[in-house]
Amino acid sequence: MGISKPRILIADDQQDVLAALRLLLKGEGYETESASSPAAVLTALESRDFDAALMDLNYARDTTSGQEGLDLLCKIQALDSALPVIVMTAWGSVDLAVEAMRRGARDFLQKPWENARLLTVVRTQIELGQALRRGQRLEAENRLLRAEGRPTLIAEAPSMRPALDLIERIGPSDANVLVTGENGTGKGVVAQALHAVSGRCARPLITVNTGGLPEGVFESELFGHVKGAFTDARTDRVGRFELADGGTLFLDEISNITPAQQAKLLRVLEMGEFERVGSSKTRKVDVRILSATNSDLGAEVRAGRFREDLLFRLNTIEIRLPPLRERREDIPLLAAHFLRIYAQRYRKPLTGFESAAMQVILDHPWPGNVRELDHAIERAVLMAQSGSVRASDLALRAGREGAPRLEDMSLEEVESFLIKKALARYQGNVSQAAGALGLSRSALYRRIQRYGL
Ligand SMILES: Nc1ncnc2c1ncn2[C@@H]1O[C@H](COP(=O)(O)OP(=O)(O)OP(=O)(O)O)[C@@H](O)[C@H]1O
Ligand SMILES: [Mg+2]
Repeated sequence: MGISKPRILIADDQQDVLAALRLLLKGEGYETESASSPAAVLTALESRDFDAALMDLNYARDTTSGQEGLDLLCKIQALDSALPVIVMTAWGSVDLAVEAMRRGARDFLQKPWENARLLTVVRTQIELGQALRRGQRLEAENRLLRAEGRPTLIAEAPSMRPALDLIERIGPSDANVLVTGENGTGKGVVAQALHAVSGRCARPLITVNTGGLPEGVFESELFGHVKGAFTDARTDRVGRFELADGGTLFLDEISNITPAQQAKLLRVLEMGEFERVGSSKTRKVDVRILSATNSDLGAEVRAGRFREDLLFRLNTIEIRLPPLRERREDIPLLAAHFLRIYAQRYRKPLTGFESAAMQVILDHPWPGNVRELDHAIERAVLMAQSGSVRASDLALRAGREGAPRLEDMSLEEVESFLIKKALARYQGNVSQAAGALGLSRSALYRRIQRYGL
């Protein structure tokens, strides 16, 4: 296939038929190989790939029934079901041709054949066979992708549609992608999904948590260093850019890097080149950059804290992940997903949530998004004692408010709230609660009375 000539196996026990076919097909630019018995056909198919087989159904031992040819067809099917087989039958044996098609032959010709028709049939079958093989290859690749590496990304909510569309459309390209969203919305999962659907998926996805790295560490982490570059550099070190060569580099928490770090990063993104710390040798890498942040980089640019030219390099495409409270449809699916994972991990025979528990989950505002839900379900699985998770297994308050926000409360409300918490923590023991709050016992008693606790 490709630029090489298509190769056709021709099989017949009559030498003059083989010679005529060879001549005809060679003249059309095909490569041929001949076989004069069913055994020779199988040997040929086992030793090399063919784009099509053109075979007679009758062989020497039994020249009329075609039984040998039909048996051969079954064996070919078992060897290579994608190989297009065209059978040749004697005039008037249409029944035999039909039986051959039933056993996997793709088309048939009656002898003596018409050259033009034979060539059309051969060309069509070769094209169909190549398409079929491509399909099988894709299918196999997809199976691999699904099995390995491809992260679970649950996203049925309409508000996730734009993100999913972008992953599908942009994932396979080399475009740099900036993933934005609140903490725990799944930015890391999206980076994995982008890498998994790309042509780079067989190469590594390297993640660097760029936030908060001190200057020296940042450089040697990303670019590597050579022995002796600084006091602690006892050996050469390969940086993340080199590790990711041919693959994908995921720069997580990108907004927290210093201006000097931004300048260094910009240079690699613009030129694709860098030096290891302490070396003057310029290295080139082929890396796709994904990055993520939970801050508004546009605002960081306006505030003069983030370079605009660097932002333009990073956000060729931006994927915004909505907070969980804006994709409530996914909450039950995610909860069930985490339940399955943790029930298996902790070997708990849990099958689902009691309806009151599901109600509590649905009512919670999830300020920590999917990660908070993940942790809450893990905790609930550990707590659960029956076959399903109960509301009491979830360390969540019922009601839409969750914990009140301090800034919305008056001073007295805050005081009363903290006292209630302290009393709950010490199971109503006033002395201990007073100690924890920094109050005398009597001062605490006065407040308990005032607030009617
Ligand atoms: N759509 C999803 N489907 C399944 N699991 C998800 C999904 N989104 C997030 N998760 C899971 O939730 C957890 C948090 O996700 P992730 O670490 O990707 O969030 P993040 O946005 O990178 O958070 P942070 O801002 O804190 O880095 C992970 O365990 C991840 O596997
Ligand atoms: Mg993350």
